Amino acid sequence: MSTHKIAVIPGDGIGNEVVPAAIDCLERIAELHSLDLEFTYFGWGCEYYARHGRMMAEDGLEQLAVHDAIFLGAVGSPEVPDAESLWGLLIPIRREFQQYINLRPVKTLDGVASPLAVKNPIDLLIVRENNEGEYSEIGGRMYRGLPEESAMQTTVFTRLGVLRAAHYAARLADSRRGQLTSATKSNGIVHTMPFWDEVVAETVREYPEVTLTSELVDALAAHLVLKPWTFDVIVASNLFGDILSDLGSSVTGSIGLAPSANLNPEGDFPSLFEPVHGSAPDIAGKGLANPVGQIWSGAMMLEHLGHPEAAAHLQAAFESALRDGFGTRDVGGTSSTSEFTAAVLTAINTLA
Ligand code: NAI
Ligand code: MG
Repeated sequence: MSTHKIAVIPGDGIGNEVVPAAIDCLERIAELHSLDLEFTYFGWGCEYYARHGRMMAEDGLEQLAVHDAIFLGAVGSPEVPDAESLWGLLIPIRREFQQYINLRPVKTLDGVASPLAVKNPIDLLIVRENNEGEYSEIGGRMYRGLPEESAMQTTVFTRLGVLRAAHYAARLADSRRGQLTSATKSNGIVHTMPFWDEVVAETVREYPEVTLTSELVDALAAHLVLKPWTFDVIVASNLFGDILSDLGSSVTGSIGLAPSANLNPEGDFPSLFEPVHGSAPDIAGKGLANPVGQIWSGAMMLEHLGHPEAAAHLQAAFESALRDGFGTRDVGGTSSTSEFTAAVLTAINTLA
């Protein structure tokens, strides 16, 4: 039996509903595939912040570092400024653990209707650069409250940062349909974006089977609505990738479906798996949350930990529950979070 130590951070809002749902599924899968998943819970997030004035323990990163993976729900609450909750937990984890790839699959699921008249199945991957770019700490505010008040924030692209994201995306495209689309805005953002374009193009030349298309992000957003099935792999900066992946998941039906992996591909540090959505305070505590994004993130975690069969089993199970007509309200269904999870557990047993 292989043992994996997994740090679980349910976080805030619906994180406390979708994480237990996904853990139930992971535990059943572990039993059936003889995996030893050892879950350790960390009660960090906005409630912890209210009591301790910080989002996680002072030595939080050291506590997490001894795990093989991190499984996170969502953080954020109307009582805590979002910049505080994000920069106090998720961003330090992504950066300190060099999780420089944020991988976000977007896929049509049988039983889930798209809000658009999508003509063909969608199956694309968004590779978001996760450590630098527009999400930088460089900048400041001056003359607060005065008419002269101003704010400035500087985007940072490094050759290493762009190069490793481009390599990762090109390798993925190479293993799939060979189409790589790079999101740019080099017409308006005249220093960093041409640099991004150059480094991406140089990198992709090392992959003769991969065709690179550089597309302005505004046109790409329109393209993602009009013909999403034509994309294979999209590589994008931190900000562009964030926006495009919310758009992509909505095109397939709901943000509640979308999973993500924050990867340290070298395995020097634990990688983190979390749904794309946030803590959804508008529906928290009502049993309405769709657990698919969290369960799917669990499947990505199994794959990363070296168990592709267990991952495929879990994936097939939630896809089968959706196909059989189970689904939460956001995908047009009537199941509660726990009713949907029960349907996934049944499918896990049926498919065993
Ligand atoms: P959100 O993703 O929490 O919610 C957006 C909309 O989608 C809401 O109407 C919500 O009800 C719905 N929704 C989201 N997940 C759903 C699910 N699983 N099932 C059904 N419906 C779902 O984004 P929002 O409202 O912008 O942010 C809320 C809080 O979450 C903020 O504090 C924000 O900072 C935080 N946040 C945290 C993230 C993280 O932990 N990675 C990511 C995004 C936002
Ligand atoms: Mg987002």
